[in-house]
Amino acid sequence: MRQVRTLGLLGTGVIGGGWAARALNFGIDVIASDVDPKMQGWLTGAVETAQASLGRLTLAPLPPRGELRFTTDLAAMAREADFIQENIPEQLELKQRVIGEVSRQAAPDVIIASSTSGLMPSDLQRDALSPERVLVAHPFNPVYLLPLVELVGGTRTSSAALEAAAQFYTAIGMHPLKVRREIPGHLTDRLQEALWREILHLVNDGVATTGELDDAIVYGPGLRWAAMGTNLIYHLAGGETGMRHMLRQFGPCLKWPWTHLKAPELTETLIDRMVEGTQAQAAGRSIRELERLRDDCLLAIQQVLRQYDIGAGSTLRALEERLHVRAAVAAAPDTERAGELRIQTWVRPEWVDYNGHMTDSRYLQVFGDATDALWRKVGIDAGYRARGRSLYTVESHVTHQAQARALDTLTVFARVLAVDAKRVHVYCELVRADGTTVATGEQIYLHVDTTAARSAPMDAGVREQLEALVAAQARRPAPERAGRAIRMPPAA
Ligand SMILES: NC(=O)c1ccc[n+]([C@@H]2O[C@H](COP(=O)([O-])OP(=O)(O)OC[C@H]3O[C@@H](n4cnc5c(N)ncnc54)[C@H](O)[C@@H]3O)[C@@H](O)[C@H]2O)c1
Repeated sequence: MRQVRTLGLLGTGVIGGGWAARALNFGIDVIASDVDPKMQGWLTGAVETAQASLGRLTLAPLPPRGELRFTTDLAAMAREADFIQENIPEQLELKQRVIGEVSRQAAPDVIIASSTSGLMPSDLQRDALSPERVLVAHPFNPVYLLPLVELVGGTRTSSAALEAAAQFYTAIGMHPLKVRREIPGHLTDRLQEALWREILHLVNDGVATTGELDDAIVYGPGLRWAAMGTNLIYHLAGGETGMRHMLRQFGPCLKWPWTHLKAPELTETLIDRMVEGTQAQAAGRSIRELERLRDDCLLAIQQVLRQYDIGAGSTLRALEERLHVRAAVAAAPDTERAGELRIQTWVRPEWVDYNGHMTDSRYLQVFGDATDALWRKVGIDAGYRARGRSLYTVESHVTHQAQARALDTLTVFARVLAVDAKRVHVYCELVRADGTTVATGEQIYLHVDTTAARSAPMDAGVREQLEALVAAQARRPAPERAGRAIRMPPAA
């Protein structure tokens, strides 16, 4: 299957907009198509809104942002895309027809994935040319923040297409969950609907309001669910003997009619109760305000879970590791500045302070990312750290000479000035696209044995590579600002 540089979108509503934002953020170009030309303006706004949250997901170095284009010509989109994600309304015949048409325009190795919430891939691929590349990839709203994507193959989908799709979604920070067998509603919507049905019954029977039922989740099970699913949580509920005891104790309840299987009739009274209940919960807040609040919480939860390497936090960790490796691979020796590595970055809008300039703390981050890329080049990577070896920063000195503004492209030139058994002296220069030096960053790092929590000599291979970088620029003069101490010059 081909490398995905351009993602084609069919339908740019809530879900299409979410896919666009996610792909662009991770360096994929997007060509978005919709039959409604008004969706172009909507899409631009949706991507901007999503970016405000997505831009805060990780501090890891991101590749240059992808470019967004829009067209009402679905065939043109299909001819240009390396991977197509379909997000048009949930109507089987419409999806079958459009997937069929698009498959006749796209090259045969271009995967066509449907975001359908519950339709079966075997039905969707019915009219497609090369049906082996048609599959379901069901995301969750907001697509730009939730990593889950359910992958489902139909009777004619090839395992190679499923594997290639999984790789693509992983590359844009997602957790592809391969569903073993196609069933209506896949896995997650089956679970969500069971809960939703009980909610409708409880409201219909006048047992609880929508707010009380949401409290029943938010203050309890919902907090557990982000880290562990129902099964592992129930295993813990069984005490020392786990799930076996849990089933013995609570299994009999399954025979009692605690829950209803069939959904209640959607009468006008029930609809009114649901609508009035949720309006009361919204308490005058608009959908936009509530979305922002939801997104802030989703970001915070994933960042906390990352510390514990669990659930969506593990996905985020793995993504960050890949982003760092990618930045290191992209960091190239500079031909004109012997012995220096050139690392590209750009100023994210959220890095800018009230003066319109990149804020202080981001300079350290940019220099930190650059030295991280340098370390990886010389062999200090995840494997090295897993062996209890690492470099810790012991001193930093940043000087500022000019300003960087939002969206400015910046280059860091990283130079190793000195190295001995346990220490490395690094000097970085941050340069704008117009050649102006914006800042310099100078740091001393100490090599440590992280298990013993004390300094230790670095591995010979790493030291050799660092020494080679020092030797490569031995004939060049030391940087003018290197070794400066901070002090107030005497008043004139
Ligand atoms: N909304 C959700 O929470 C959610 C979650 C997961 C999956 N999905 C699935 O994603 C798909 C899209 O849902 P949505 O909520 O984004 O819908 P939406 O109504 O917001 O967007 C659908 C878009 O498709 C466009 N469209 C209609 N016919 C078209 C055609 N023939 N060609 C190109 N574009 C066309 C419409 O103009 C519209 O912009 C559905 O299959 C849905 O089941 C939705």
